[in-house]
Amino acid sequence: MKLGSALTNSATKAMLLGSGELGKEIAICLQRYGVEVIAVDRYPNAPAQQVAHRSHVITMTDAEELRKIIDLECPDLIIPEIEAIATDALAEIEAEGLCRVIPNARAIQLTMNREGIRTLVAETLQIPTSKYAFAESFGQLKAAVDGGIGYPCFVKPTMSSSGKGQTMVKSAEQLEQAWNYAKVSGRVDTGKVIVESKIDFDFEITLLTVRAVNSEGNIQTYFCEPIGHIQENGDYRQSWQPQAMTASALETAKDIANKVTEALGGVGLFGVELFVKGDNVWFCEVSPRPHDTGMVTMTTQKQNEFELHVRAILGLPVDTSLQKHGASAVILSNINAKDFFYNGLDAALAVPDSEIRLFGKPEALVNRRMGVALASAETVEEARNRAVKAAGLVGIHCE
Ligand SMILES: Nc1ncnc2c1ncn2[C@@H]1O[C@H](COP(=O)(O)OP(=O)(O)OP(=O)(O)O)[C@@H](O)[C@H]1O
Ligand SMILES: [Mg+2]
Repeated sequence: MKLGSALTNSATKAMLLGSGELGKEIAICLQRYGVEVIAVDRYPNAPAQQVAHRSHVITMTDAEELRKIIDLECPDLIIPEIEAIATDALAEIEAEGLCRVIPNARAIQLTMNREGIRTLVAETLQIPTSKYAFAESFGQLKAAVDGGIGYPCFVKPTMSSSGKGQTMVKSAEQLEQAWNYAKVSGRVDTGKVIVESKIDFDFEITLLTVRAVNSEGNIQTYFCEPIGHIQENGDYRQSWQPQAMTASALETAKDIANKVTEALGGVGLFGVELFVKGDNVWFCEVSPRPHDTGMVTMTTQKQNEFELHVRAILGLPVDTSLQKHGASAVILSNINAKDFFYNGLDAALAVPDSEIRLFGKPEALVNRRMGVALASAETVEEARNRAVKAAGLVGIHCE
């Protein structure tokens, strides 16, 4: 791919849809190649907007608003960072040949809705997943659970992320509450929920998978070392790399990731979420973009997940090799505030081989992810201890 220089007539322009902490790192990588970066989000001064050439604040789920901003900026590349986007507008723009959507509009459409991706993976590709059903009424939900999914099960909106609207239901009495919660908390009310049987896994991983052009000019699939993680209420708290697993499970995981990403197509990095028990592997979901648990690669890999995504998009060679064992731990706010300060960074950075990234979010909200602590060590266990310790030393205060 030919690259123009930012802010000239021949500039290569990339528009980020979603400008959070992951978008910020993508923007920084794009900037290093002189790409002109336009960061879009629903609120001003979002993290990636602070490191972009220009920014816009729009309702990204509104197809008209999205179309207007794309027509105004005429980007060469559209790089979605979140799922809540009017994907029909992206499909239209791609069909008109106006610009490249990463990895492609169909993949974005399929993965934004649990029904699209689950049907593709479980039914078309015949890859193992939890038992599941879609329900449009409480009656349908109850019938699906009684008819074989059983308890415990997970009820989730078909369009949501970060655990929003999701409940693990342990018994029949909790089912109606879970139904109501999923109905009101989905990002977009599709009128449907998914119910999944609970997989009794030993651990869960994100297998970062890159589709990039190789030296022969063909698209090749590359894998990072598996990333283990801990989720609380559907949101990630800690991740580490590499996650130890059997050779057979790793091979199966790669095979699943290969099939899923090939079916989605295009180039870029994907986060394939999998559950593992012994040699068994189940597909959970996939992000056609860098993954929050993959922030650990900022300390473990030669090329982190953001650099890999950008290189794949720009047609440049990629190297997924691991350099060090490492871990990440999130820094969450425990207050709601617009004027606030961070403290304890000095103590946190005194933890050996640690790094802190503060995202620069303009507002602190209880449980909002404000930063991440990274650490490397000889062993994953020690790296986890260090990352958790460093994260715990950073405080967020009003005065
Ligand atoms: N069927 C299941 N069996 C066991 N655990 C599950 C199941 N579904 C979800 N979970 C747990 O809940 C977490 C979040 O689920 P999932 O990834 O489907 O939701 P999400 O809202 O898209 O979350 P995120 O956006 O953070 O990835 C999983 O990582 C896993 O820990
Ligand atoms: Mg998930």
